[in-house]
Amino acid sequence: MRIISTNTHLPPPTSMLRTPPKCLDITFKRQKLDINIRNEKQSDVELIHRVIVLAFRDAPHTDHTEQFIVKALRRADALFLSQVAESDEGVIGHVAISPVNTSDGSANWFGLGPISVLPEYQRTGVGSKLIESALSDLRKAGAAGCVVLGDPSYYGRFGFKVVDGLVFPGVPVEYFQALSFDGAFPQGDVTYHEAFLAQG
Ligand SMILES: CC(C)(COP(=O)(O)OP(=O)(O)OC[C@H]1O[C@@H](n2cnc3c(N)ncnc32)[C@H](O)[C@@H]1OP(=O)(O)O)[C@@H](O)C(=O)NCCC(=O)NCCS
Repeated sequence: MRIISTNTHLPPPTSMLRTPPKCLDITFKRQKLDINIRNEKQSDVELIHRVIVLAFRDAPHTDHTEQFIVKALRRADALFLSQVAESDEGVIGHVAISPVNTSDGSANWFGLGPISVLPEYQRTGVGSKLIESALSDLRKAGAAGCVVLGDPSYYGRFGFKVVDGLVFPGVPVEYFQALSFDGAFPQGDVTYHEAFLAQG
C-alpha cells in the first residue's frame, strides 16, 4: 500500500532551504546565461582540460580519454578549430574540430568533437551554441563538410544525417552522421586523426 503524507504544514528540511532544487537552478541559469563563443587562447588550455574531464565524468559510452585527444590534436597541430563557451563564470564549454580522411580521397572533410559542457550548464543551450558557431566558422573556412559520431537525435538538429555508404567502421550506422556544405558526400570509410588514440 502506498502511503501519502498529508502533513503539509511541516517546513521543508533546512538543507532544501539552502540548496534550491536542481530544476530551479537550471531555470535560473537559462534566464541569466550570457555566453560568448570564441577561439581558444593559450591561457585557456588548462581550463579546457578541466571542462572536458568534468563534462565526460558521468557520461555513458566513453573511456574518459577526450581530454587527452584534444591535447594530442593540439600538439599535432591538428586542432583545426578549438572554441570555448565563456560565461561570466569563465570557460564552461569547449568544442574541437579536426580533419578526417575518407577512403575515396575526398578533400576538406572534418570531424566534430569532442564537445563538452560543464555538467551544471548542460541542457541550457551551451552545446548548441558551440556547435552552431563551430559549423558556421568551418563553412566560412571553405570546408566541404563535417562528420560526427554521437546521438543521432541530438546532432540531427544541426543538419547532420546518416549517409548511405559513408561509414565509421565498428560503429552502428545511425551513430555516424555527416553534414555537407556543398551538397556532395564522400563514400567509403572515414578515419579520424591518430590523436584520437591518445591515452594520456
Ligand atoms: C552533449 C553536450 C555537449 C550537449 O550540450 P548541452 O549544452 O547539454 O546541450 P543543449 O543544451 O545545447 O541541447 C539540449 C538538448 O540536447 C539534448 N541532449 C543533450 N545532451 C545529449 C546527449 N548526450 N545525447 C542526446 N541528447 C542530448 C537534450 O535532451 C536537449 O534536448 P531538448 O532541446 O529537446 O530539450 C553536453 O551535454 C555534454 O557535455 N555532455 C557530456 C559530454 C558528451 O557526451 N559529449 C558528446 C560526445 S563528444
